[in-house]
Amino acid sequence: MTRHLLRDDDLSPAEQAEVLALAAELKRTRHTDAAPVPLRAANGVPRAVAVVFDKPSTRTRVSFSVGVAELGGYPLVIDAGTSQLGRGEPVEDTTRVLDRQVAAIVWRTFGQDRIEAMAAASRVPVVNALTDDFHPCQILADLQTVTERKGTLAGLTMGYLGDGANNMAHSYLLGGATAGMHVRIGSPESFQPSAEVLKRAGEIAAETGGSVLWTPDAAAAAYGADVLVTDTWVSMGQEDEYDARVAPFLPYALDEAALARAADDAVVLHCLPAYRGKEIAADVIDGPQSAVWDEAENRLHAQKAALIWLLERSG
Ligand code: CP
Ligand code: NVA
Repeated sequence: MTRHLLRDDDLSPAEQAEVLALAAELKRTRHTDAAPVPLRAANGVPRAVAVVFDKPSTRTRVSFSVGVAELGGYPLVIDAGTSQLGRGEPVEDTTRVLDRQVAAIVWRTFGQDRIEAMAAASRVPVVNALTDDFHPCQILADLQTVTERKGTLAGLTMGYLGDGANNMAHSYLLGGATAGMHVRIGSPESFQPSAEVLKRAGEIAAETGGSVLWTPDAAAAAYGADVLVTDTWVSMGQEDEYDARVAPFLPYALDEAALARAADDAVVLHCLPAYRGKEIAADVIDGPQSAVWDEAENRLHAQKAALIWLLERSG
């Protein structure tokens, strides 16, 4: 069976722990003889991984390009706007062309239905590099970063402030619950997480000993948190809504007052790109509790681990 990573609950708690352990190992052994090169074929030729973008990217583009190369492979980066996919070729037809030539497909796109259609048509692993609904690669990197700083994940409280309806909030709910964390989403009523995701995250948390909560009370979401996190108030594709979106989020800024409500040793995360003075204060993101640059680096290690794991299990 071909395994895909389309949303965070595609990995069971045990599988997520395996990927995170592998990510830590890859970080330790990077550039050594112990670093695995599973994308180098038996004849020494690199196998390709397609990395396709329907939306802009810096971190995802760089980390998958570098990561695939470090695994001995060839990153085939495609901007959809320069491909037939961008001119309306069906997702399934594009997938059938790609999967005969590449070892895996990584895709950043809009609707979750698009990447689900790709996975349904693909004989090679498909990895979600961000959709409107989820960003599972980012959450793996975030969990790796928290593990580095705190030594554990289960039982920690993660407070998220901002847009509760976006990809990051949804992925924190599912991925955090999978790790046994207590995930609190603080957002305006009109930007709540999807009911389906909240319910599913609650079911996972019941298994792992974690918990999930949505609250309109920003202070309650931040109070005592071990990890405090936010994301842009205007996600890719929402640029036209900029003026309408900013005002409701102002009470949810991750500023010094919010940080003061968290645990004294709270770690601050932000997937980046960040908008200083909007969702996060400059003093917070550039301050001593911020782990955002480790978080950005860990995209490389976590995604290499996810690729190896998916390829090994996809026979
Ligand atoms: N965090 C993240 O996915 O960044 P990019 O949009 O730059 O890839
Ligand atoms: N929510 C943001 C995340 C960017 C990495 C977006 O979708 O634009």
